Amino acid sequence: MSEYIIDTRDVHKVYNPGMDSEVHVLKGIDLKVKKGEFIAILGPSGSGKTTLLDVVGCLLKPTSGEILIDGVLTNDLDDGERAKIRGKKIGFVFQQYNLIASQTALENVELPMRINGKSKNEAEKRASSLLKLVGLGERMYHRPSQLSGGEQQRVAIARSLSNYPKIILADEPTGNLDTKTGKKILETLKELNKKKGYTIVVVTHDHRIEKYTKRIINLMDGNII
Ligand SMILES: Nc1ncnc2c1ncn2[C@@H]1O[C@H](COP(=O)(O)OP(=O)(O)OP(=O)(O)O)[C@@H](O)[C@H]1O
Ligand SMILES: [Mg+2]
Repeated sequence: MSEYIIDTRDVHKVYNPGMDSEVHVLKGIDLKVKKGEFIAILGPSGSGKTTLLDVVGCLLKPTSGEILIDGVLTNDLDDGERAKIRGKKIGFVFQQYNLIASQTALENVELPMRINGKSKNEAEKRASSLLKLVGLGERMYHRPSQLSGGEQQRVAIARSLSNYPKIILADEPTGNLDTKTGKKILETLKELNKKKGYTIVVVTHDHRIEKYTKRIINLMDGNII
């Protein structure tokens, strides 16, 4: 059993192998994250941050290497099993929020729970308390277009928490936000880590993250340096 909740061993990712467009993005990543840690992965555009987050989050298969999530080797599992692990253990936060435009904040947060088989009533209750947790108690019936960027990102954070994930993976969560709003989002994540013990990995090229986490990992050309 691994002592780490995220444990990657010599992970490589090659896009379009054998073709002219082949790109070797991850070149032997050993990433170890303990339960309850809040870490940041910093790196320039194109360094492989999103790719790394996607292979850790079971959205993408690595070309080689091992990935253990909460002690389970995920890289050899089939798509269905990987989707299950993703649904149960991982909450994603994306730069573009990825909210459903026609649904209210409440419905957006309910959705992953409904997919996992929770009743409407239960899902609504939890969605409502999660929106309060991220400071959006007054905005539950707003649709994404009626919310500011920072508010939309907080809905996305609430949604990422809906199925009690063990790990939150955030890809440039402040990338589309002004300085002040970005700060609020990082504070929200920091608080979720501190008060609720979520393990959080943020990838970004925003150096302001350094104020919020003790552990920073630098990614450069597919290697951790
Ligand atoms: N599906 C794909 N097919 C081929 N190449 C890809 C694919 N996805 C990403 N790449 C290439 O892999 C490299 C790393 O991409 P990735 O999106 O992981 O970088 P990133 O660090 O997240 O960059 P950014 O900060 O701009 O989001 C880039 O050079 C990109 O062009
Ligand atoms: Mg990216």
